Formats: sequence, structure tokens, C-alpha cells
Amino acid sequence: MTSSRKGTVYIETYGCQMNASDSELMLGKLRADGYESVTTPDRADVILLNTCAIRDHAEQRVLGRLGELKASMSATSIMGVTGCMAQRLGPKLLARARHVSLVIGPDGYRALPALVERARAGEKATHTTFDFEEHYEDVAPVRADRVKAWIPVQRGCDYKCTYCIVPTTRGPERSRRLDDVVREVAGVAASGTTEVVLLGQTVNSYRDGGHDFADLLRAVGAVDGIRRLRFTSPHPNDFSDRVIAAMADVPAVCEHVHLPMQSGSSRVLKRMLRRYTREDYMACVERLRSRISGLSITTDIIVGFPGEDDQDFEDTLSAVREVGFDDAFTFRFSAREGTPATRLPVELTVPEEIATARLERLIATVRSGARERNATLLGRRCEVLVEKWARRGELLQCRTRDFRTVLIPGADSLVGRYLTVELTGTTGSTFTGTIVTERTPLPMAVRSIGDAAPAA
Ligand code: 5AD
Ligand code: SF4
Repeated sequence: MTSSRKGTVYIETYGCQMNASDSELMLGKLRADGYESVTTPDRADVILLNTCAIRDHAEQRVLGRLGELKASMSATSIMGVTGCMAQRLGPKLLARARHVSLVIGPDGYRALPALVERARAGEKATHTTFDFEEHYEDVAPVRADRVKAWIPVQRGCDYKCTYCIVPTTRGPERSRRLDDVVREVAGVAASGTTEVVLLGQTVNSYRDGGHDFADLLRAVGAVDGIRRLRFTSPHPNDFSDRVIAAMADVPAVCEHVHLPMQSGSSRVLKRMLRRYTREDYMACVERLRSRISGLSITTDIIVGFPGEDDQDFEDTLSAVREVGFDDAFTFRFSAREGTPATRLPVELTVPEEIATARLERLIATVRSGARERNATLLGRRCEVLVEKWARRGELLQCRTRDFRTVLIPGADSLVGRYLTVELTGTTGSTFTGTIVTERTPLPMAVRSIGDAAPAA
């Protein structure tokens, strides 16, 4: 890091974990250049919005926020837009919000310090070219979270689902080298972090030339001090037997998978170009469940995709019941300019009020299933990792291995530690609990490090 203090930078992040991870890299790049990060936008020298383009709603929020943040600028502040929306709109954003002087897509963060400099000198600077080699290997991220670390292992996506803007904004799929990933994981473990989350758009299609995702899980799971290993988001078609075996074998791999289904109707899945049928998806769930006991499954579902009729939607509801998802992110289809779905015949468009009504029914179905399942867990004892203070203050937010949220009373000193708690109540989605013991036995894989884990 250079010693010159160039000014302050404030980054606001929207969208997925990949963006959260990219913001950490951006901060790392700017900090190394002499910038100090601040947590409020007021009079920051550099204000950056790291954006998402996946749905129109996400973009509208950013456009609104750009207007609001103008009030926080000083005479010399600059404002920049980065991420997927920057990639999608490019220089058009400069015309849309005249106080924005910097537009950088996901492969341009290496040039961030130079581009910031140009913008501070009064120029308008944009960078939206792809770099198929870019993994920011030499950039040390500034991590927001000390309890768990996001580890990007793959950038871009080759699937090209017909509704999705991601292949356009993040380019083709490329994987980091296994050795580089393991080195980064060893680094975070050495600093006391015990949970890592491997990130990729279709993370289980990871392939670095010599290794696949199964190799990666085994290698990361063997890093001293890593006690919990998660990954997001996998594609159902990339759950090979090798990957499932690695999940079952590696003690650190948690009993949770986020498995985007998108629809329970094979007809709709075909139009979405998801490359699997309802039956294939169910078979994947079955294969995972048969090897990993106590596996919880969450998902993403889109309603109102062009051509989705009442029966298709009923198929989605029945699939939700059949799988028994522990939670789901549910979305109304949003047409994204340039994606193949926008070229489907207009008469297939699902009217907004129908899509909204379906979304409400879907949410109710997901919630009632989760509520029923969660009620059966009351009284159970389980291991949790204390993540942080819950949003509303007095309780600590903890996470079970199978990704349930448990709120417990406690003190600051418990953050980052593993506890055994008893589940005493549930709102339907989250739990309240009480501490049974402040020590939990270490799984075999990390026993060698003993009390070196801060959480033990
Ligand atoms: N409209 C609605 N939802 C979308 N997603 C991706 N693209 C769209 C779109 N155009 C959802 C998918 C994906 C999640 C990250 O966002 O469910 O899994
Ligand atoms: Fe988008 Fe499909 Fe790639 Fe996921 S797999 S990022 S939904 S194109």
C-alpha cells in the first residue's frame, strides 16, 4: 500500500454476492492506491455504486439512488457507476445522469485508480471491454466480513438462459486456477476466518483445465482452519457424481445447497433454455438428498415468463411442494433488452396483474411449507456460527450449517464463534434460540488446528 492519502471512497453495492465480492476487490485496488474507505457518502471524494442489471427494478433503484446521492457530493467529489448496469448501459449512463463521470464494467476494476484519476481531473471515463483472462489475482480484497469470506472462483456464464442478462454483462465463463483459490482460502483462514463461500454464476461447472469442482471442494475443504464451506449458485446440470461425492465426503461442506429451479414446468424450462426438465431437476434433488443427509435446499423461481399459463404455474407450485424448499427467492419475470426472451411472440406476454397474483401465491406456498418444516425443528440442538448483530439490535444473528438463521441473546465477544444452541421459537422463517454450550466439537477435518480457530 502506498502511503499517500489520496482521499476517501464510499462504495454502495447492489445485487448478488459476486458484486459484494467485486466491491471488496475495488476497495482493495483503491486502498492500495492511497484511498481510505468511508461508510457514509457525505462528501466522500469518490462515490461508487456497484450495480446489478438482472431486473429492471434493480436498475430503477440505482437510478433513483444516483439522484439522491447527488446531495452528498462536495464541489470536488466524483460519482461512478460500476458492475453489470455499467456494462449494459456504458456511456448512455453518462447522458442519463450528468453528475456521473465514471462508468466501469466488471472486467475493468484493474484500471480503477487510473480512471478515478481521470474523472477527478474533470474527464468522463468509461471502461466496458471484457478481459477474458481477468481474475484480479494480484489484488488483495478489503473484506467487509471477518466471519465469512466470499471467494470468487469463476467469472461470467456460458449457459445463456433466455431471460438472463448476465452472459451479456459478465461475458463468457472462465475459472480461476485451483492453486490460486486455495492460496486465497489459506490466507483468509490464517487471519481467523473459518467459513468461505465459493462464488460463480454456475459455480459447479468450475473447470481450470486440470481440475473440476469436485477437486476444488476437496482442496478447499482440506485447508487448515476452514470449518464451513459453501458455494453459490450451482446449475443442476453440473452436479456430477464426482461433485456430489466430494460434497458428501468433505466434512467442511455444509448441508445446504441453493439450487435454482426457475420453473416447475418442463414447457417453460424449455423456453427458458434451462437445459433440464422438471423430472431432471427432481432427479438431481434426489441424488443430492440420497448422499447428503439433512440437506436443506433453497431455490430461485421466476413467475410470468412469456407463455407461462395457469397449468405451468400450477406445476411450479406442485414442484415447490414436492421438493419442500427451505426457502426461495421469487421473482416476476422482467424483460431485459437484448435477451432472447424479448424476441418471443408478444402474445405470449403474461399480463402484469396475473404475474403479480402468481408471485403472491408462490410466496404463500413457499412460506407455508417452510413454516411447517421449521415448526418440527423446535427443541433441536444444533451448531451455529455467530455472524453479527441482527439488524434490529439486541440479538446476535447466527447461522446453522444448513443455512437457517437463529437469533440469540449474547455479547460482542461471541461474534465469529461456534456455539451449540437449542431452537426455542420460530417466526416461520427464522428461529430464536438459547446457548447450550459455547464449545462445539471440531469436525475431524479441522481437529489438527485445535484451539487455533478463534471460534473454537
Ligand atoms: N427476470 C426475473 N428474474 C430473473 N432472474 C434472472 N434474470 C431474471 C429476469 N430477467 C432471477 C433468476 C436467477 C436470479 C439470480 O435472478 O431466478 O436465478
Ligand atoms: Fe443467467 Fe442462466 Fe447463467 Fe444463471 S445460468 S447467470 S440464470 S444465464
